[in-house]
Amino acid sequence: MTATIMTTKNPKASGKTRGSLSSSCRKNFITLSDMTRRELEGYFDLALRLKRERKAGRIHRHLAGKNLAMIFQKPSTRTRVSFEMAMRQLGGHGMYLSGNDLQLGRGETIPDTARVLSRYVDAVMARVFAHSDVEALAEHATVPVINGLSDWSHPCQGLADYLTILEHKGKLKGLTLAYVGDGNNVAHSLLFAGAKLGVNVVCVVPQGYEPDAKVVAIASDDGRKTGARIEVTHDLVGVLGADVIYTDVWASMGREGEHAQRVRVFKPYQVNAALMAMTGKSGALFMHCLPAHRGEEVTDEVADSPNSIIFDQAENRLHAQKAVLVKLMAD
Ligand code: CP
Ligand code: NVA
Repeated sequence: MTATIMTTKNPKASGKTRGSLSSSCRKNFITLSDMTRRELEGYFDLALRLKRERKAGRIHRHLAGKNLAMIFQKPSTRTRVSFEMAMRQLGGHGMYLSGNDLQLGRGETIPDTARVLSRYVDAVMARVFAHSDVEALAEHATVPVINGLSDWSHPCQGLADYLTILEHKGKLKGLTLAYVGDGNNVAHSLLFAGAKLGVNVVCVVPQGYEPDAKVVAIASDDGRKTGARIEVTHDLVGVLGADVIYTDVWASMGREGEHAQRVRVFKPYQVNAALMAMTGKSGALFMHCLPAHRGEEVTDEVADSPNSIIFDQAENRLHAQKAVLVKLMAD
């Protein structure tokens, strides 16, 4: 399958018409809600090919001479290392920029930062607090911008996650993913992409910690077109019939101050052996975007069980992001 090139978000900057196939067309990777099923499948196809070829010893040079600026306003292990390795393995270079070290930390505006970086590098990846910051970067940069996590979404994670499920199950459409815990950025990206791909997504969350109603509405709309069931429940019984149980930390980056109170609220939603058994499926997979707070949202027993595919997920960040980088940056 071939992905259609993403439409430009800033026609003024690119001077190109929407959907132009020109490599100079502005293309961003900001939220999975922007993408079509075919685009997502195009990323999967390319990621799987690059992964297979790399494992067979092939050297890739798709991004020879290209440079990616990587802005981090929050910590990271997987995103930082996988993007840097992806650039290197494609013949290019990734440059780590800590939000605190940039002039951004001293009040330089996002639009000015976007305009300046666009004069030096071929694309920008950013991990930010406010989603509007990565949108502003995309609006004012004249090079592609990739969302490496915002408080609202984590599209690189969602892409790698569905790629991982596809590898393990051989299909996506008709499967059921139960997301258990905090209705956060990761849950949002799983909802967006699941709905497009025909995956039923059930969010099993405590009262007051539901995913954004707007996200649920968009996913439900898409789900009606693909046959995906989108559901939010407070009842643990919602995991019944799930092919995949997915969880994330109870207090995301920036919410550390709420940790103690959240532990009390989320305790019944811990993914343990009993909750896995509630799926009624012995082959149900366990997923987590990592980092995990073992003993909180997931027990060691589940995280280290044969059904856990958490490290395959982490590895696939590398392969999925290579597909994104090639589609956005290659000539
Ligand atoms: N899953 C993920 O994005 O991990 P990092 O915070 O380590 O990048
Ligand atoms: N929801 C988590 C994801 C970390 C990869 C956070 O935002 O901290």
